[in-house]
Amino acid sequence: VIALRFAFLVLAAAMALGTELTPQQLRGKRLYLTGESDAGGITALLGADQVEVAASVVPCAGCHGRDGRGKPEGGLLPSNLRWDVLLHPAAAGDRSRGPYTRSLLKRAVAMGLDANANPLQPAMPRYRMSVAQMDDLLAYLEILDRDREPGVSDDALRIGAVLPPGAAEQRAVRAALGAYFARINDAGGIFGRRIDPRFTSSIGSADERAKSLEAFIETERPFAIGAAWLSGADLPMSAVAERQRVPTIGAFAQYAPPSDRYVFRLLGGVREQSLALVAAAQLAPGARIAIHAADDATAALVRDDLAALGVRQDSKDADAILFLDEPSRLAPLLAAAAAAPAPPLVLIPAAHSAGDLTAAPAALDGRILVALPSSPDDVTAEGAAELRALAVAPEHATACRVALAAARLLVEALRRSGRDLDRDALVSTLESFYRVPTTFTPPVTWSRARHTGTRDMRIIAADVRRKRWIDRGRWPASLDRNHAESATKP
Ligand code: HEC
Repeated sequence: VIALRFAFLVLAAAMALGTELTPQQLRGKRLYLTGESDAGGITALLGADQVEVAASVVPCAGCHGRDGRGKPEGGLLPSNLRWDVLLHPAAAGDRSRGPYTRSLLKRAVAMGLDANANPLQPAMPRYRMSVAQMDDLLAYLEILDRDREPGVSDDALRIGAVLPPGAAEQRAVRAALGAYFARINDAGGIFGRRIDPRFTSSIGSADERAKSLEAFIETERPFAIGAAWLSGADLPMSAVAERQRVPTIGAFAQYAPPSDRYVFRLLGGVREQSLALVAAAQLAPGARIAIHAADDATAALVRDDLAALGVRQDSKDADAILFLDEPSRLAPLLAAAAAAPAPPLVLIPAAHSAGDLTAAPAALDGRILVALPSSPDDVTAEGAAELRALAVAPEHATACRVALAAARLLVEALRRSGRDLDRDALVSTLESFYRVPTTFTPPVTWSRARHTGTRDMRIIAADVRRKRWIDRGRWPASLDRNHAESATKP
């Protein structure tokens, strides 16, 4: 008996860590969640008239919930399908039944009869599937209750955050996010679950940062990551979140791989900022742009877009320079540009700018444009009040603002998703966001084809003579907008 108990404990511990499912359980899970199977189509007979439809139209999870506990809807109460509940006598409404056995369960699914052979309500479809498919389904029902999404328990939800590298900024962002989640918890959490935030930071080379994100996900197992500093390690860190299937909202990010499914970005990155700069520059037809990039991969981010816009790319006698290089190389470039007979426009995405550009050579007066994906002007009155209530340190306001905006979007998506949490469903919810306000940044629109939130950039020009910035208004990354709109149409 002792040995058996011990074996059970080991098994339970392995389950708690989210052991991989067996191939049969995985097949059953797919069948339960989607009604689909590689071993042949499954049909469902609906209602008193026994209308035949594909089971994928009425998957079990649609009524019984991803967690099997039953989602009451429109006066219907789909039963709790937890294995231990099925194996014990139960009463529902005026129907009471004895314990199910495996074969009685199969009969319930195929014929709509409960353990006592009483007919189940016609709302419960009758399913036609093969013996093997039915075995797969039962294999999954048996472990359904333990097959939780990572980070989700009855009363808590683990949410990760990847903090910025600088120590002081890190403390400020951590405090702001902690205070924000504490307020949500004080108000009852989300569908009765308390948010349990877990923090990590992002320090070192791009590869080190990706490795530490992977270790964080594996040890803390967050359901989702609410605010992430990806900038500078965008590609390797996205790859980790994708591989681990963790919905992640990047607060600071520069590049967005177009194939991302789980990673969303709050603000437009270098690509969108570059396109907005080109739009704001209002170049004459036939104008030439020179791209100054740190490496070829960076230049490639915008090369095709510019070509599609009909902008000629030429490094000689360019009318405008798009600066995507190390910020330390900016000063010499400005000096060279100022010395040219006809000084070019210099277009700089925020992340590539450096130093006080209003102190640039006089020849560049009004010719330096910088794109800001978000500025303090984006904070609404409500947002400003919240920043005060959360005691956000003014010197780290920008970092806290974007972190809170990202966290707020995740919370909004969790509220829209309902209690029955599922990572893929959360991704679909995020992809349905249309102009969702954050109160701290411009509103965010995401779709399946587009995981980058804002595309209107604020463009500012350096007034060198009066040593100040001039607001040139918001400019769209216009080309991309066309792309996204045609791409999102089904
Ligand atoms: C359209 C909604 C709906 C779908 C889809 C659905 N069920 Fe049900 N199911 C119900 C309802 C409602 C009941 C309760 C019927 C009653 O109490 O008479 C029920 C009852 C049951 C019961 C009986 C439980 C008990 O305690 O007696 C089992 C077992 C069951 N469903 C399994 C499944 C499985 C497995 C699937 C997918 C293959 C599925 N159901 C799909 C609505 C649904």
